[in-house]
Amino acid sequence: MTSTHPILVFAGSARTGSFNKGLARLAADSIRRQGGDATFVDLRDYPIPLYDGGLEKESGIPENARALKKLLAAHQGLAIASPEYNGFITPLLKNTLDWLSRPDGDEDGLGLFRDKVAIVLSASPGGFGGIRSLGLARQLLLNLGMIVLPNQVVVPRAGQAVTDSGEFADKGMGERLDTACGALVRTLARIA
Ligand SMILES: Cc1cc2nc3c(=O)[nH]c(=O)nc-3n(C[C@H](O)[C@H](O)[C@H](O)COP(=O)(O)O)c2cc1C
Repeated sequence: MTSTHPILVFAGSARTGSFNKGLARLAADSIRRQGGDATFVDLRDYPIPLYDGGLEKESGIPENARALKKLLAAHQGLAIASPEYNGFITPLLKNTLDWLSRPDGDEDGLGLFRDKVAIVLSASPGGFGGIRSLGLARQLLLNLGMIVLPNQVVVPRAGQAVTDSGEFADKGMGERLDTACGALVRTLARIA
């Protein structure tokens, strides 16, 4: 089924073999299984320089940030898998969201986020699954004007969490991801 409330899904990691990209892909699959329409984006395909007000003044919004803005404009929901660096979100995630929040011509930047709905997820090889980054990712999305659902999924020991056939070794983990993704799909349908 194709939904009119498409969901953009990405991870705050560009790393090949990223656990969070893997989690984001599983979230996109779950959204689709539950009748939603998901677009997975790999931020490795959209390299953007570190935000610098001088660069913005001289050259405007970088082409890849513009392309991501266009994608975000075409989506009503967001699912972000946020890796944890020193208890924080990654510079890649912060930089990407900072550029996307900048105005460009008639578009005010924050309008791309306002009143849209998000969930946050995290995976880490550590025992806590990157949970400390989730509160911060959630706060950042709230600051951008998004509605962030209470559902979240944390995947500890991410290296062992997914089997060779691409499913969670712990069935409960797959169910929690389905619950969070289902809540996102249903909430978008209800508020449309
Ligand atoms: C600078 C740095 C700091 C890190 N800090 C944490 C941390 O605070 N908590 C944690 O669980 N993992 C931490 N890690 C390990 C990451 O969770 C791990 O590199 C993970 O694979 C990154 O996500 P990815 O697989 O999606 O790229 C850190 C890694 C780096 C490079």
